Amino acid sequence: PVLVVDFGAQYAQLIARRVREARVYSELVPHSMPVDEMLAKDPKAIILSGGPASVYEPGAPQIDPKIFSAGVPVLGICYGFQVMAHELGGTVDKAAQGEYGKTEASIDRADGVLDGSPADQSTWMSHGVAVESAPEGFEVLAHTQGAPVAAMQDPSRGLYGVQWHPEVKHTPLGQNLIETFLHRCAGLPDDWDASGIIEDQVAKIRAKVGDAQVICGLSGGVDSAVAAALVHKAIGEQLTCVFVDHGLLRKGEVEQVKHDFVAATGIKLIAVDAADDFLEALKGAKEPEHKRKIIGEKFIRTFEKAQAQVIEEAGAQGKEVKFLVQGTLYPDVVESGGGDGAANIKSHHNVGGLPKDITFELIEPLRTLFKDEVRAIGTELGLPDEIVWRQPFPGPGLGIRIIGEITKERLDLLREADAIAREELSKAGLDRDIWQCPVVLLADVHSVGVQGDERTYGSPIILRPVSSEDAMTADWSRVPYDVLAAISTRITNECPGINRVALDCTSKPPATIEWE
Ligand code: XMP
Repeated sequence: PVLVVDFGAQYAQLIARRVREARVYSELVPHSMPVDEMLAKDPKAIILSGGPASVYEPGAPQIDPKIFSAGVPVLGICYGFQVMAHELGGTVDKAAQGEYGKTEASIDRADGVLDGSPADQSTWMSHGVAVESAPEGFEVLAHTQGAPVAAMQDPSRGLYGVQWHPEVKHTPLGQNLIETFLHRCAGLPDDWDASGIIEDQVAKIRAKVGDAQVICGLSGGVDSAVAAALVHKAIGEQLTCVFVDHGLLRKGEVEQVKHDFVAATGIKLIAVDAADDFLEALKGAKEPEHKRKIIGEKFIRTFEKAQAQVIEEAGAQGKEVKFLVQGTLYPDVVESGGGDGAANIKSHHNVGGLPKDITFELIEPLRTLFKDEVRAIGTELGLPDEIVWRQPFPGPGLGIRIIGEITKERLDLLREADAIAREELSKAGLDRDIWQCPVVLLADVHSVGVQGDERTYGSPIILRPVSSEDAMTADWSRVPYDVLAAISTRITNECPGINRVALDCTSKPPATIEWE
């Protein structure tokens, strides 16, 4: 793989994605991983990410300089570039002028990692510290007003560095630079793609499963559907999907899964109606992580109970169901703190919320993948667009979109409001522009309204349409006013108890996409 060493940047994952877009497999590792351990992964190239620290401050994240003499090509980006300069004897100091955002870089030598670059490049920067002079043996490739050395290289040692962020779209030639580094400087072929992932995973799943029975929890979302289709390709009839209706789904979803998915894939499906069970377990729970734990736990227990039925229907008496398929994606792993060193922001139920005494072994064939890769695989596996292009919906469903205690009445109310918002957004042709649009019920908040000359004291609904590439960062979608007006009018007219509709205009960060 290509290793992306994470120095605590919000961009490290983005770098890993860009490498995959260049059709080269990449993995994130924390900077705290010993260099020997990194090298044991036999990396073909290493990219050092940016980070929030200043290299010369005490406690700033370091890396063993051995990494620069291991014979593996290294590209340092922003903080990673400064670490490289600092460790190898260059001078790094507070910049005479910090540069944040769009910055013009003057290219002094369009060579090596900047081969073919125009004389000036528009770049995106974020630094208050600059490399004043390059280490011995390096040639300076570019400078900006605030960075005397904005890019440097020593091709004889395979070392390259840039002050700017080539991974963000605001650096128009950024992807070019990453591809030049990977394909030309490091000589890596561009052969990583959806078919390759499928073949690789099919072989791995077969080897792992043998002749055991496998179940997969289907949520109706893209991830579990693609995971199921992939496992089905590998082991066919040994797979049974279990669809738990936990009562936290959206309008029409149960039918959609029961009919559309089965029609598209021919996979065996057992549907379990556990709505009352979940509601009972969730009684009194208000705190988001508490709700997630309850839902995660109940999910697994429901699967365990479904085992007997799975075995009976598979005609595999005497055998046990040994494996559980989960549609966990790479961002889930990283955000749940599984990406080592990353903070636990929310324990997504399909990762952190699993009970410890789980009796299944997990199969997570999408664990290293990003959403766009999962969609490409889904299409390659023959899933229809309605499944592949469904907007993301969290496993705990509407349960984490009712702020406050979950009751049947509140669920029904939110289900209706959500259906209206989805219908109007679809009608306006916005489905693919919007990454997802959580509709949130602030159940314990009340405000005064007036409807039909009567005072009302109802709850507000929040619309949270966002645009995003991978849910790691997001911006609020600029939905046209008349579409918002149509949604607002319909919700207040058709959902008794709702007297206010508000728009959430916060990006992520600082907010998350969901309210819980
Ligand atoms: P946040 O709210 O963390 O959401 O910005 C990022 C993405 O993850 C989804 N999400 C979840 N998915 N279980 C899931 O399966 C969860 O507990 C969960 N919480 C958030 C969210 O819808 C968004 O796509």
